Amino acid sequence: MCGIIGAVAQRNVVPILLEGLRRLEYRGYDSAGLVVINKGLQRVRSTGRVAELAAQIGRQKTHGHLGIAHTRWATHGGPTEDNAHPHVSTNSIAVVHNGIIENHEALRTRLKSLGYDFASETDTEVIVHLIHFYYQASRDLLVAVRAAVAELQGAYAIGVVSAEAPHQLIAARRGSPLLIGVGIEENFIASDVSALLPVTQRVIYLEDGDIADIGLLGIRIFDAEGRPVERGEHVSELSADMAELGNYRHFMQKEIHEQPRAIADTLLAGVTTHSVLPGIFGPQAEDVLGKINGVRILACGTSFHAAKVAEYWIESLAGLPCRAEVASEYRYRNSVADPDTLILTLSQSGETRDTIDALIQAKKLGHKHSLAICNVPESALVRASELKFLTRAGPEIGVASTKAFTTQLVALFLLALVLGRLHGRVSVAQEKSWLDQLRELPGLVGQALALEPEISAWAERFADKHHALFLGRGAHYPIALEGALKLKEISYIHAEAYPAGELKHGPLALVDKDMPVVAVAPNDTLLEKLKSNLQEVRARGGELYVFADQDSHFSEQDGLHLLRLPSHAGPLSPIVHTVPLQLLAYHAALCKGTDVDKPRNLAKSVTVE
Ligand code: F6R
Repeated sequence: MCGIIGAVAQRNVVPILLEGLRRLEYRGYDSAGLVVINKGLQRVRSTGRVAELAAQIGRQKTHGHLGIAHTRWATHGGPTEDNAHPHVSTNSIAVVHNGIIENHEALRTRLKSLGYDFASETDTEVIVHLIHFYYQASRDLLVAVRAAVAELQGAYAIGVVSAEAPHQLIAARRGSPLLIGVGIEENFIASDVSALLPVTQRVIYLEDGDIADIGLLGIRIFDAEGRPVERGEHVSELSADMAELGNYRHFMQKEIHEQPRAIADTLLAGVTTHSVLPGIFGPQAEDVLGKINGVRILACGTSFHAAKVAEYWIESLAGLPCRAEVASEYRYRNSVADPDTLILTLSQSGETRDTIDALIQAKKLGHKHSLAICNVPESALVRASELKFLTRAGPEIGVASTKAFTTQLVALFLLALVLGRLHGRVSVAQEKSWLDQLRELPGLVGQALALEPEISAWAERFADKHHALFLGRGAHYPIALEGALKLKEISYIHAEAYPAGELKHGPLALVDKDMPVVAVAPNDTLLEKLKSNLQEVRARGGELYVFADQDSHFSEQDGLHLLRLPSHAGPLSPIVHTVPLQLLAYHAALCKGTDVDKPRNLAKSVTVE
């Protein structure tokens, strides 16, 4: 939510800032802006997308060697130009901010009484005036930022520049992500490494409470107590072209098609021919996972749907009680904690506020052990967890999560196998057989992707609908939930998912010829039950769109459209069945002409409550 970037260099930084913003746009796209220092502060802001800002900058020929920039997801104040960042104080200090300042009202009142005029409705503007206030006394930007952030409550990652310090970029973070990019006689800051890949792969992750003083030649970092600290430098494995569109029309389409590769890479993380190495979850994993007595999974949105699938896998393969819970609910609940129940958090970004706070709540309630499954190394969630597993999906730019979901599922299946073995439920031979099946998975997903032309034809029939129902049973019910979420978030067609057996308990009343019903129908032990549920739909004139397996008995008949996936993939089937639902949502959105990668009102990393 909101992306920030900054640069200090001997060259013009405007193209670097604009390219960085383009790469950060997934974090918010209500407005964008930048400030460069060039004989004073030069600020350009625009509502809407980064492309509009770039056009404006092109006309004004803005340039400079020090600058900060921002792409916004509006929280305090609407998406207007006045509310767009950077915010400035008395035309001398500028700030970009990602996060929420909870005590902004009290600070605003105080700063107003000190004579500061406010030009926006944002919480951010208090930060820049506060820094300016302290700068008056110290004439030292670092000292002023340190004094100002000490008064902030809430979450922030900020970049700060001053017209009086044309080679100094100050960065600070607490609760929101921020990293430093290290170049040769030039340095950068950004919310996410992908923004910096065209200029550097060398990054330093700032920790909570850190403040950094960044110049052309040097970087000084201070911890929350103001002590100078060394934070290790990492070389990112990502490359600049990983965040490029290539021949695809949208990142979502590209990311759907990357799934065979992403799944194979995630498997490579620690799977030998015969077994999954427990160490893939961290050095202490074997010890910790061997002694836990259950698993509670906390996650949001799509990640929560992966958690729901894991309930089935962990209970059936490892025989351990497993419960998935929406993180935003758990964090405010006095749940009964068993210290030996593992807290497992799932998150693509590792920045989701609700999930991080749910983990904090779980620890407070007495849970001793935690594991994060995440796609972003060094993210807050990963750093706050005892054990970790990094999915290898690569950067996911489309706001609707796709490859992150299927790689989470792979990670969860590996976890279920490890737990099964450590708890004496999975034999060596069984484990090898599961692993053989896992290795087939990229191929099976590839076969599901080959159905795209047929799915695209189906999608045309959805484009004029206002509602859709998704049905599944067992571990495919969460896949139906995920299919419905994908459809609603990118095509804006209202969609709901139900366990198929639940239909007759209410939602059947909705079924008529205008309500397409999508059924996830694998050839598993529940298929005959599901078929009966589908008959209930047909008998009420509902139109059925059924994704069945190659080896199941279904025939196309009136009111029943059928597409066949590969033969049944056993417990891994939920992963294969996800793919056609992603494609259905994608093509329905294409037919409706929505902004697929940046659906209205949404942003990718939800760092607010
Ligand atoms: C939907 C989607 C969201 C996220 C949710 C959690 O396509 O992407 O529902 O899954 O906001 O995000 P992460 O996984 O980053 O914690």
